[in-house]
Amino acid sequence: MERFAFILHPLTLDDVRRWQPAVADRPDAVLEKMLEGMPPFKVSHVTGIRSAAGAEAEGWFVGCPLTARQMMALDADFVIKKIIEAAAMAETLGAGIVGLGAFTAVVGDGGITVSRNINIPVTTGNSYTVATAVEGALHGAELMGIDPSAATVAVVGANGSIGKVCSCIMADKTAALKLVGRRIEALEALAADLDGRKAVVSATTDIKAGLAAADIILTVTSATDVIIEADDLKSGAVVCDVSRPRNVSRQVSESRNDVLVIEGGVVAVPGEVEFNFSFGFPPRTAYACMSETILLALDQRYESFTLGKDISLKQVKDISAMADRHGFKLAGFRSFERALSSEQIAAIRRNAGRSAL
Ligand SMILES: NC(=O)c1ccc[n+]([C@@H]2O[C@H](COP(=O)([O-])OP(=O)(O)OC[C@H]3O[C@@H](n4cnc5c(N)ncnc54)[C@H](OP(=O)(O)O)[C@@H]3O)[C@@H](O)[C@H]2O)c1
Repeated sequence: MERFAFILHPLTLDDVRRWQPAVADRPDAVLEKMLEGMPPFKVSHVTGIRSAAGAEAEGWFVGCPLTARQMMALDADFVIKKIIEAAAMAETLGAGIVGLGAFTAVVGDGGITVSRNINIPVTTGNSYTVATAVEGALHGAELMGIDPSAATVAVVGANGSIGKVCSCIMADKTAALKLVGRRIEALEALAADLDGRKAVVSATTDIKAGLAAADIILTVTSATDVIIEADDLKSGAVVCDVSRPRNVSRQVSESRNDVLVIEGGVVAVPGEVEFNFSFGFPPRTAYACMSETILLALDQRYESFTLGKDISLKQVKDISAMADRHGFKLAGFRSFERALSSEQIAAIRRNAGRSAL
């Protein structure tokens, strides 16, 4: 039996209020102070994972009680210390590898400092997140009748760990690539690196301008608030929102019935897995970053597979091959916490004026 652990945290105070109804009526500032003072804790025991290759795994979710906003706003040393404590708890529980969920991989140096302070390997899960984000966006495009090789693609958060590799992959597959982010020099340097690929690459810090012509959008930022609004999107576009908390305004689901928004990085895990904790997904589905951690355990690759902010295409290919071997697959599409049926996708396609498949 292989053993892993994965560090979770509340993305927003809404999560805290959902998980702890007894404190739901407390003001935001009180809840934040409460989280600041709380040590990491064991959330659940994960059982029943059996891979297509016959390997079995169990694991633990460990909670790091800080929201995404707190992780970005509080003193970095305080935040990293708490993540190290959570990782040390994973080691004590008996995990052979620990994965960093959501902002525990975003803050600081992408797990390098954490790995130096514990005795088991650490992975951010970002390699498999890239693989599933690109796969999901391209599959969504196909369902919406978009030909990627003729399409304009925007990557929002293109300078980031996940964004950079997504941009590299998309530069070989599409007609035009817009790199969208906050720092123009870094975006232009990435655009220069991608010069000579199939896509014509350009860079902007203006989200609205970057999205106006985009047929396919991958959004992978560390923004803790919504940054993509309903009127930013072209009719018929597909948006793969990988960011947690999400980047796309919920208003899109209310006012834009001609745009397909999907959650990126949702994976079907093989076996009769019981997470024994609800993070809002249907049974037997997990985030891609969790899945990477589980895969490494199943494959007995007890190594810091994705560490730091730079990911190579080889890492993305290797983890995809591991996923195929162990029977991990992209799960059915979800949009704003709900499953999307093929009828709903066909209706979005019709609303965008496209003929049926
Ligand atoms: N779905 C999943 O399974 C899964 C798995 C792992 C991670 N994630 C999520 O993926 C996201 C990205 O993670 P990462 O590790 O790639 O983070 P990262 O390396 O910190 O990169 C984030 C990028 O977003 C940019 N950014 C932040 N705020 C922005 C804004 N308002 N407008 C435009 N760009 C902005 C940052 O710009 P600067 O370069 O200027 O800082 C940075 O380049 C996070 O939300 C994380 O929680 C999801």
